[in-house]
Amino acid sequence: MTSSDWPPLSELLPLSRHDVHVIRIPLQVEDDTLDRLKTLLSPTEVARADRFKVPQPRRHFIVCRATLRQLLASCLDCTANEVEFDYGPHGKPALRRSTPPASQIEFSVSHSADQALIAIALDRPIGVDIEQIDPAVRILKLATRFFSPREAAELIELPEGDQLAGFYRGWTSKESYLKATGSGLSFPLNKFSVSLNPHQPARLIEVFDQPAELDRWQILALDPIHNFAATVLYEATGAEPTTLHRWSLCPSAD
Ligand SMILES: CC(C)(COP(=O)(O)OP(=O)(O)OC[C@H]1O[C@@H](n2cnc3c(N)ncnc32)[C@H](O)[C@@H]1OP(=O)(O)O)[C@@H](O)C(=O)NCCC(=O)NCCS
Repeated sequence: MTSSDWPPLSELLPLSRHDVHVIRIPLQVEDDTLDRLKTLLSPTEVARADRFKVPQPRRHFIVCRATLRQLLASCLDCTANEVEFDYGPHGKPALRRSTPPASQIEFSVSHSADQALIAIALDRPIGVDIEQIDPAVRILKLATRFFSPREAAELIELPEGDQLAGFYRGWTSKESYLKATGSGLSFPLNKFSVSLNPHQPARLIEVFDQPAELDRWQILALDPIHNFAATVLYEATGAEPTTLHRWSLCPSAD
């Protein structure tokens, strides 16, 4: 897949129950754009941005949150400043459920280095995760610590040349699941397993004590941009097939 498979998003997202949208956003912007994007944030979000000690994550948070507001505002037909969020018990942001369209729109956000993904769907939970691939990361050590025993064993059995991609396939699939359910790290990472083979479709393989979860969710591996891994996971809905739409969007305050 190439960047041309992520066409620019120039119009309103065509939201329907059969569509899932993933929007790729490069987070580096000029200072004047950053300043204008910051005006779209709520006072609480500005306070959060100002608490970042390191400039780069602060800038990335502002750009990502402002772009999320713009995207949701276009779906809700309101202004970016008017979008209101509530937070789940483990920090999952959601649209405040006070108006009918907001009660149907689900979204998920992930950022890594200077790239972000925002996933949007109607009427079904969704989770997305992007990670920059770091070849220096000690994947076998991390897998032993954070993955399920089954996943750690699968990683070791992969050909050496596939292990890095397999690790990131597993990592992003696990994060996408935790994002979609909203549990974050309150759900133990070793209590469920995903597939790791980067040459096969991504799959949820086991969720301890909850076998019905396997049929509930669909995972898709994305190929967002060179050197990054990503997956999106969403609730499967009946017999109707779901179409995944990938878009790219350059942050702008205009
Ligand atoms: C917070 C968490 C949900 C994801 O964090 P992350 O992967 O570090 O960061 P991402 O950029 O992918 O996601 C952050 C976004 O997730 C969203 N988010 C936060 N808590 C969430 C939750 N409980 N459920 C769903 N989404 C959540 C927010 O939109 C946040 O964006 P913001 O920081 O701009 O507000 C959580 O799973 C976590 O802390 N993970 C730590 C990473 C780790 O150890 N992973 C091991 C995998 S094997």
